[in-house]
Amino acid sequence: MLPLGFPTPTTPLHPPKISATLTTPIPFSISDAALASRGFALHTTPAALNLDHLNTVFASVGFPKRDTAKIRTALDHTDAMLWIEHAKSAGKPVAFARATGDGVFNAIIWDVVVDPSFQGIGLGKAVMERLVAELLHRGILNIALYAEPRVVGFYRPLGFAADPDGIRGMVYSRKHQKKR
Ligand SMILES: CC(C)(COP(=O)(O)OP(=O)(O)OC[C@H]1O[C@@H](n2cnc3c(N)ncnc32)[C@H](O)[C@@H]1OP(=O)(O)O)[C@@H](O)C(=O)NCCC(=O)NCCS
Repeated sequence: MLPLGFPTPTTPLHPPKISATLTTPIPFSISDAALASRGFALHTTPAALNLDHLNTVFASVGFPKRDTAKIRTALDHTDAMLWIEHAKSAGKPVAFARATGDGVFNAIIWDVVVDPSFQGIGLGKAVMERLVAELLHRGILNIALYAEPRVVGFYRPLGFAADPDGIRGMVYSRKHQKKR
């Protein structure tokens, strides 16, 4: 999912909108206990989250660095979130994802990110599976996200489909507005 404050100069303006309409949760590919045995702790609130570290992780994957106070405001308006911390770096997220929405029908997932040093070991899938499961648990069945083309293949096995039933996502663009 795209970073906070989308659209940004570093992200495409019209990525494919991907949505999931799942009725049964996907089983977790890695259990909480297995994560814990590898030193990973799960968090569902920002209480212990170091926002400067989060910003650093965003920057490390090419997301624009953002004002920490604005990230705080965004998290205050976030309905569900999940981040993973490693035992050796308290407060520092190694994986993160969050969802906003109306609390009953719809949610959009944002800011899915894994620290490059921890990519490829299942943490991205772990946060996504749990975030989707939490939204489904709340009865929220329409779950969408904006995927950069290079990560569409990451979201598909998690239950997300591009342009379901031909439905296209549209994003307001000031750039295109000026051209008219
Ligand atoms: C995309 C991202 C979140 C994936 O996290 P990750 O922890 O590296 O991925 P995982 O190890 O959990 O991979 C889970 C599965 O997805 C696959 N996968 C991972 N990245 C993929 C990609 N870009 N395209 C296709 N498949 C991918 C893995 O091979 C793995 O497959 P498997 O279950 O068959 O073994 C991570 O690479 C990242 O933070 N990238 C930079 C930020 C970014 O692009 N975010 C998304 C913005 S839209």
